[in-house]
Order: sequence, then structure tokens, then C-alpha cells
Amino acid sequence: MRMVDIIEKKRDGGVLTSAEITFFVEGYTNGSIPDYQASALLMAIYFQDMTDEERANLTMAMVNSGDKIDLSAIEGVKVDKHSTGGVGDTTTLPLAAMVAAVGVPVAKMSGRGLGHTGGTIDKLEAIEGFHVEITTEDFVQQVNEIKMAVVGQSGNLTPADKKIYALRDVTGTVSSIPLIASSIMSKKIASGADAIVLDVKTGDGAFMKTEEDAKQLAQAMVKIGNDVGRKTMAIISDMSQPLGLAIGNALEIKEAIDTLQGKGPKDLEELCYTLGSQMVVLGGHAASLQEARQQLETVVMNGQALEVLKQFIIAQGGNGEVVEHQDLLPQAQYITALPAKKSGYIAKLEADDIGTAAMLLGAGRATKESEIDLAVGLMLNKKVGDYVEEGESLVTIHANQQDIAQVEQKLYDHIIISDAKVEAPSLIRAIIMT
Ligand code: URA
Ligand code: CA
Repeated sequence: MRMVDIIEKKRDGGVLTSAEITFFVEGYTNGSIPDYQASALLMAIYFQDMTDEERANLTMAMVNSGDKIDLSAIEGVKVDKHSTGGVGDTTTLPLAAMVAAVGVPVAKMSGRGLGHTGGTIDKLEAIEGFHVEITTEDFVQQVNEIKMAVVGQSGNLTPADKKIYALRDVTGTVSSIPLIASSIMSKKIASGADAIVLDVKTGDGAFMKTEEDAKQLAQAMVKIGNDVGRKTMAIISDMSQPLGLAIGNALEIKEAIDTLQGKGPKDLEELCYTLGSQMVVLGGHAASLQEARQQLETVVMNGQALEVLKQFIIAQGGNGEVVEHQDLLPQAQYITALPAKKSGYIAKLEADDIGTAAMLLGAGRATKESEIDLAVGLMLNKKVGDYVEEGESLVTIHANQQDIAQVEQKLYDHIIISDAKVEAPSLIRAIIMT
């Protein structure tokens, strides 16, 4: 097989065979195919697209390029959740604890990554003593015992995706639906999920800015998952404003605990119940979404979900008392209110820029080398549609630096107040089953 023939075939709109796709993925991963040929093929895919079968084959070739996590020693259907990422997305922890309390095993592999705040692992490290370096054996045992564990990414998972993603980044081929969908799905499948629930965000703070693009990506991922034998569904959710009220690592841990105590922000709670119901049904613990939701509401109300979170924290070396005593979390030195300059309705809380304001405080990484300050971040006091009086606090800023003028300016520039009444955006935009 010659790479140039594969490039020409795709360039001219042909359909690649499974063997051709595997030849490319293996060859590029082991270095026998150079960057320039891989770039040319990626650009051809960008313009010519891929059939459903090609997408499934590309996904599995990337899965097979490295280690696969074997979770078969965990009893039950392992349902994983993936979010395409947003601002202040606190969902993973309260969601995992809820569904685990209902009996669905949550064996989660999480990353750090770049962004406005840290990833789930960074957030968890706000809890004193917590660690994510556990052996596969302990990981499996913990999930069997308390139904929930979070481990840091280890081993050599989907090396083909790492290499291809880096190349796409510098060749103008990131925003291709078949390439994004196979990239995300290959990682989920390699980490051992039997079933996958996807939360595809749409809006200013999301990777997919428009609802139409988000739907296309969701449909592509759902199709790949189901075609390769993993039950997969997606919801499209709003990311035009940050999710919940907290944006920051320790602040989001507190928000997660609040949510499990039934006093979290309404949007975050609703998203957890919506995603959770799907996970419980896929996990075989309820016959209908309605029944699943009732089970989730019950374990939140009777405290079982919070107890699972506590046991999980203790099992991974953390101080479980944080669940009752949130003042054990790291606290910022300077806490400042951002007063509204006029009265009116909140028309916009531009998620992307508000996230950047949190990053300027040190809540997230601008580059891989940046250090995160787990204590700092933002607490929104208003959401889109709320009324605010002049002088009332829009946001509480938690900082470890005295000079926050730049952060304040960024917030003022991206929190838009209008005289006319504004409707709150709807949170769940669509449910994609096929
Ligand atoms: N996230 C991924 O993991 N892969 C992509 O291609 C895009 C976003
Ligand atoms: Ca949040």
C-alpha cells in the first residue's frame, strides 16, 4: 500500500477501506508516514468528509493504536460521561456520585488539560490529601466496593489521536466533524466504557458555537459509538453563559457538594438529573427516564449520594470531612464584590470571556506549564434573565492578588445589562439518540 494512493483516493472523493485507514493510522503513529503526507490526507478528509463506516474504522484504528483499559472485572455496565467542555462545568463530580449511589459503577479516567479552570483532577486536588495515582487493581476494587473512582490518565492511550490532533492544530484541520468525532470517541472507547453519554455544549463558551454544529457533532459521535457496539446518546446543552455559579477549582468542589445537598444552582442540578437519568437507564438500573430521575432525586434527598462522594474522597486519601466542613477547602485571600453600574436585566454573561477572567486570576492554565491556584475564581451572583439593582454585586471575585483591575474590566465588558426584560436561555436544547 502507498500513502500517496490513499491521499489521492480521498482527494477525489473516494471511500477508504478499513485496511487503508489502518495503514495510515499505524504508519503515522510509528513514524513511517511523514507529517506532510498525513497533513494532505487530513485536508482531503476535511473537504471530502467520511462515510459512517470510514468514521467507525478511523475511530477503532485510533483505539487500537495504544493501550486499552480493561474494566471487565468491574461488575455491571460501565457508563461513561463526556462533556465537550465549557466554563464552570462542575457536572462530573455530583453526577458521578448520584449515579453511583443508584448503583451504576463510575470508573472515571480524567485529565488536567488547558482551560479557564482545571479539569476534574485539578478540582479534586483542592481536597487535602486527595490523589489520583491508583493502580488498576485498586481502581477496580474501589469501584466494586463504593461504585466510584477517578484515576488520572496513565499508560499509552490512543497515541494516534495525540499525534493526529497535534498535527490538525497546525494544519487548519481541527474543525472537521469526522476528525473531531473520531478523536473524542476513540478516547472514550479506549478507556473502557460499555456505554457513553455525551454532553455536547453549544454557545459562546463551547467548542461548537452554534446549535446546528453541536447537533452535527453529537449525531456523528452517537453513530460511531453505536456502530462500534457501545450504546451512545447525546444531549445538547447551553454554554452561552457559565454553568452554575462557581468558576474555579475549590469553588466548584463546594458547588458540587451543595448540589449533592439539594441546594446547588438550578441549571447544574437539572443537567445532572438529565444526564444522570440517561446513565441510569443505560446502566440497566431503571426501565424509564422518569423512574431513573426519581431514583436520583431520592439519593440526593436522603443523603446517600453525598455519602458516596465522601467515601470516594476517603478511599483516595482525601479528607472526607470536607463534605461537612467546606471551610477546609483552600480559600482566597481577597474577596471582592463587583457592583453593577446600572439597574436592569442580565442580558448576557459571555461564557468565554468570563472564563478568561477566572483564568487571569489563576484558576486555569494558559499553557501546559502554568500553575493553577486552586483557591481563586468567580462566584456569579446573577444569571441571564435575573434583575440587578445598581450597586448590587454581580460577581464575587476570589483572588490571591491585590490588583484585580484587569479582571474587573473584563467582567464589566462581558456582562451585559439591558433595560428590557430578558428570558433565561433554555438549558437542554436537544436529545440525540441516533
Ligand atoms: N476534542 C478532542 O478530544 N478532539 C478533537 O478533535 C476536538 C476536541
Ligand atoms: Ca459551575
